[in-house]
Amino acid sequence: MAVQRTFVIIKPDAVARNLMGEIIGRYERKGLTVVGMRLEKAAKATAEAHYAVHSARPFFADLITFITSGPLVVLALEGDEAVSVVRNLNGATDGRESAPGTIRGDFGMSVGANLVHGSDSEDNAKAELALWFPNDDGITSRKRCDADWLDA
Ligand code: RTP
Ligand code: MG
Repeated sequence: MAVQRTFVIIKPDAVARNLMGEIIGRYERKGLTVVGMRLEKAAKATAEAHYAVHSARPFFADLITFITSGPLVVLALEGDEAVSVVRNLNGATDGRESAPGTIRGDFGMSVGANLVHGSDSEDNAKAELALWFPNDDGITSRKRCDADWLDA
């Protein structure tokens, strides 16, 4: 097992639909530890840097408009294999195709307004955490009281 940190966005659609607590609760109950959290309206430059890999795609402008359209929550989550654990909890990109039981599968019908973002690799998690939590500002790690039950 490898303890990793990963980066999550609870996107503006999920915040607007009052699903923040539901989504954070799913990560917590699974066994991930919230080590950073902030509610904000993202700056356009930060959003463009975050999604730079998609800058040539036809949906890029709509993606930036959407992600900066209202408040979002940025999370840093820690846990064993946190990157893939979060991707599995989030579900497939298109809500119509994501499995029931996943966040997107349970709450969404859209590919654009798909509730959450999760880093897709450990390297990208490091880069995204550095972008949204520069110098680890706002990051505070701790041991969960149920850690012994999660690591068996
Ligand atoms: P994310 O990065 O947000 O966690 O989502 P993902 O890995 O599942 O999907 P990705 O391919 O990285 O796409 C990033 C976001 O762009 C929007 N998108 N729109 N209209 C479209 O065809 C389209 N394709 C992707 C989605 O909001 C997706 O989450
Ligand atoms: Mg992605």
